[in-house]
Amino acid sequence: MKVLILNGPNLSRLGTREPDVYGKLTHDELSAMCIAWGKELGLEVDVRQSDSESKLVEWMKQAREALMPVVINPAAFTHYSFDLAEACKKHPALLIEVHISNPHARDEFRKRSVISKVATGTIAGFGANSYRLALIQIASAEA
Ligand code: DQA
Repeated sequence: MKVLILNGPNLSRLGTREPDVYGKLTHDELSAMCIAWGKELGLEVDVRQSDSESKLVEWMKQAREALMPVVINPAAFTHYSFDLAEACKKHPALLIEVHISNPHARDEFRKRSVISKVATGTIAGFGANSYRLALIQIASAEA
């Protein structure tokens, strides 16, 4: 089964962006790990990153048409993007919101997620493992 992993703005700077919060893995390293975890779980993982809201909306539409499960880290869009929330609403397969950090333990503005309301579930605060846990859930839901 194919799974789409979508990463939002500034996640291309993983590795150098606030490593104390987001860790030292680069986006390329995180992608490679997600692809390898997916293989172990029998999933074909496609990882994409964009700083553009419209790109993420377009990819959500592709996943909807393909009935594909999605793991999404909307990054800052989590907190205010109604465009992205509407693209995620009533997704026809599992839609798991993930965060590397735990937004609830950080700034006030990070405590609101407009995506959580339309996601199947949310996994946050476990670093790169947040993605792995999401993939495990998708694989076990399929089994
Ligand atoms: C993040 C948390 C968001 O608040 C932040 O804007 C990000 C990354 C995370 O993965 O912890 O860019 O989504």
